[in-house]
Amino acid sequence: MPPKQKPQNCVLFVSTVRNRQSLHHREMDYHNKHILAPMVRVGTLPLRLLAAEYGADITYGEEIIDHKILKCERRINELLGSIDFVEKGTESVVFRTCDQEKDKVVFQIGTSDAARALTAAQLVCNDVAAIDVNMGCPKPFSLSGGMGAALLSKPELISDILTTLRRNLSLPVTCKIRLLKSPHDTVELARRIEKTGVNAIAVHGRYVLDRPRDPAKWSGIADVVSALSIPVIANGDVFEYADFQRIKSATGMFGPIPRLSLPNRCLGSSLPIVLLVISAFPSDNT
Ligand SMILES: Cc1cc2nc3c(=O)[nH]c(=O)nc-3n(C[C@H](O)[C@H](O)[C@H](O)COP(=O)(O)O)c2cc1C
Repeated sequence: MPPKQKPQNCVLFVSTVRNRQSLHHREMDYHNKHILAPMVRVGTLPLRLLAAEYGADITYGEEIIDHKILKCERRINELLGSIDFVEKGTESVVFRTCDQEKDKVVFQIGTSDAARALTAAQLVCNDVAAIDVNMGCPKPFSLSGGMGAALLSKPELISDILTTLRRNLSLPVTCKIRLLKSPHDTVELARRIEKTGVNAIAVHGRYVLDRPRDPAKWSGIADVVSALSIPVIANGDVFEYADFQRIKSATGMFGPIPRLSLPNRCLGSSLPIVLLVISAFPSDNT
């Protein structure tokens, strides 16, 4: 099935209490891009740089909780040539980036509060390309804090968080959701999210209660693609390079924007994980 013609993202939402006149929104091109998925304990700077070297156009960092980044201060690491966000008191590096990835690294926040999300995003916004809000994590830690997939049942809060970020930040804002119980519910939520002015929405084609081994439902992503005008980032069961084309055809995306992530069977062994990721990013990713 040939990809449907969808309009390019051209959402501009310049309206803010604090920056009403001065905010100039940066854009990110999501068309026909290969994206490294956010992965806790995996998506650190070395992997992101490696994935970029092998053809990843956009690379997500691991989810970082707003409370955590808010305890950090920004430091230039002259030795490594990196920018480090270091937790005050513990000296632990919570987020590390560098100029080389400034135009492609996405900072993913775990949050349940608009004001806190904004303050967290403002701390890193000059060093990253975009901000993403995780609305798909089904882990008890996230759910109990009202974060991740807990947000999916709170559309008002979703709107509050995304609108606040979009209005007050000059860089692109996105979010990552899972499928809701019915296609109708998923599409309704996605439409609501689109109205906040976000630059793109990532859809992980699994339900909240699905296990990683359950097949991703690409048709659920296709429903969102056909209902929205903003770019949709398709995610789930993309393990090798050929899967990019398959998910693109199955979802009818204008821009083939699959996120690459790792099969969970590889967890626990860091080297094979890295090799699997780069094997899906041949340098001529046409
Ligand atoms: C080790 C690991 C860590 C993950 N961490 C995150 C995360 O921090 N944020 C997030 O939105 N999704 C996270 N995910 C989910 C992936 O981004 C992606 O949605 C999921 O792996 C897609 O399914 P697939 O494995 O079938 O491709 C993680 C997945 C794995 C395997």
